Amino acid sequence: MNLKSKDLLGLRDISAEEIEYILNTAKTMKYILSSNNKKTAHLQGKSKSIITLFYENSTRTRLSFELASKYMGANAANISASSSSVQKGETLIDTGRTIDSMGSDVIIIRHPMSGAPHLLAQNVKSSVINAGDGMNEHPTQALLDMFTMVEKKGRLKGLKVAIIGDILHSRVARSNIWGLTKMGAEVNVSGPATLIPPGIEKLGVNVFSTVQEAILDADVVMGLRIQLERQKKGLFPSIREYSRFFGLDEKRLKLAREDAIVMHPGPVNRGVELSSAVMDGDESTIDEQVTNGVAIRMALLYLLTRRGSANEVID
Ligand code: CP
Repeated sequence: MNLKSKDLLGLRDISAEEIEYILNTAKTMKYILSSNNKKTAHLQGKSKSIITLFYENSTRTRLSFELASKYMGANAANISASSSSVQKGETLIDTGRTIDSMGSDVIIIRHPMSGAPHLLAQNVKSSVINAGDGMNEHPTQALLDMFTMVEKKGRLKGLKVAIIGDILHSRVARSNIWGLTKMGAEVNVSGPATLIPPGIEKLGVNVFSTVQEAILDADVVMGLRIQLERQKKGLFPSIREYSRFFGLDEKRLKLAREDAIVMHPGPVNRGVELSSAVMDGDESTIDEQVTNGVAIRMALLYLLTRRGSANEVID
């Protein structure tokens, strides 16, 4: 099987079968990562060039793509907008064409504008991976989240997943909603009324005004970062009040299933979205999510660069 598109722009656009295939491939990559020798020859000898092009800050996504490229024997390079010719007025398309002309195979882009990766993908030969575009999608984060859920719970179908917090600004929430509903999970969302986008129910989720209702009997409770950088003033009264009504603490988590896991894409505002006890507790999968991010990104680099080749599925 090959992925249908040359690009990974969002989970809205890909099928449940493709998601399953990426998750299965990541299982092999996780096995390699867990071994003494992380290096794999999946891209070695093929002279693949992987470029990260980030117009916004990142620790996890950028570093995990860079490590994934290196573990797989590809050439990896990074351009950050703040130190590139973007500062001299070069457009996104012209920057993309410049990178493409140097023989890149994959361009991984993070951009504050929704749709920027789609525009880039239409104008370059390289595969484009969306590493987060505005308030739209962050598909590789949702894939690593789903991979972690499968590792911990053995399945996605029938899982009850509660996503709590700033749904409005969260590309992580949107990608998880597209992905999880396609894979047969039940998704509950809750947050301050001003941070719940009108009509979100149309995506197949249940909306609750209180966090207590949303997390009742949940298998997975996912906190989201309060995105102060994307917010206009006045969407909620104060950080303290947010934490009081929507923060996840030990008492609230007792409402979820006894074996529920707690997830967060990071970075966490410690003590705001999650209490320290919850963040560092046994139920927290935050560190495993980061590890799984490398496996998912290795899988995607492998699958996108082998499209159209006669290679068979790895197992
Ligand atoms: N979760 C996530 O995208 O983290 P970074 O901003 O550190 O990449």
